[in-house]
Amino acid sequence: MQKVALVTGGAAGIGRACCLRLAREGHAVGVLDVNLEGCEAVVREIEAAGGKALALGASVADRRAVTEAVTQLRAKFGPITVLVNNAGIAQFLPFEEITDEAWDRMMAINLKGTFIVTQVVLPDMKAARWGRIVNISSSSAQTGALKMAHYSASKGAVVSLTRTLAQELGPHGITVNNIPPGSVMHTLMSEANRDKMQYSPETLLATLPVRRLGEPEDIANACAWLVKEETGYVTGQTIGVNGGRIVS
Ligand SMILES: NC(=O)c1ccc[n+]([C@@H]2O[C@H](COP(=O)([O-])OP(=O)(O)OC[C@H]3O[C@@H](n4cnc5c(N)ncnc54)[C@H](O)[C@@H]3O)[C@@H](O)[C@H]2O)c1
Repeated sequence: MQKVALVTGGAAGIGRACCLRLAREGHAVGVLDVNLEGCEAVVREIEAAGGKALALGASVADRRAVTEAVTQLRAKFGPITVLVNNAGIAQFLPFEEITDEAWDRMMAINLKGTFIVTQVVLPDMKAARWGRIVNISSSSAQTGALKMAHYSASKGAVVSLTRTLAQELGPHGITVNNIPPGSVMHTLMSEANRDKMQYSPETLLATLPVRRLGEPEDIANACAWLVKEETGYVTGQTIGVNGGRIVS
């Protein structure tokens, strides 16, 4: 039976790669993003390859918009049992320059967005007694990252949320894991922040054991594995996909 997946932040970068990959694996995919045009472009790509998808314009921080989007997706393809919480924003600011507004916005999207979307989708998974949730955190949650206190704190909280949800939802047949990407190039976020990162891509490259920077498809590969039937014994885990990264 075709499974229905919802990917947040699906219009670009890692989210887009996850949408394309899950569609290739036979999922009907809800592509949710604040960038509706970007969602529609991803849906066209999926449909051109023979897959099924639906564009959903919504902010993960807006419970009403998320609820409407999930209702639309369910009506079109059926219950949603795969969720990839990927939508996120980044910002570089010295700790003392982070305003209350900047802190709250970071938490609202990266952390509360994950909370909201998971709560809204959960009833379908519980009813099916089966579900797969993949939260995209960040290697900065593990290492910290210069001038990213609010970002790394939001992602650290996503890691703890993952572990707790794994405990609460395991008895319902639902697994919850997180992937903390590091050094993934060719996304809007990594291109926009190229010159702000603590280490240049060139410096990072020299430190990475695999001697190449990451691509969105590297994360999508791990995501596709985590949502499989056979991965049911993996939950509450942090699956690092970072080329063996040893610096923050
Ligand atoms: N690229 C990296 O190296 C890297 C490293 C660590 C973590 N991450 C995480 O991976 C995820 C994807 O990042 P990316 O590099 O692909 O970035 P990206 O900017 O290319 O994609 C993020 C997408 O999220 C969407 N988005 C932003 N705010 C939203 C909101 N409120 N509601 C819905 N959608 C929203 C954006 O429109 C965009 O399409 C993020 O959570 C990011 O923190 C990326």
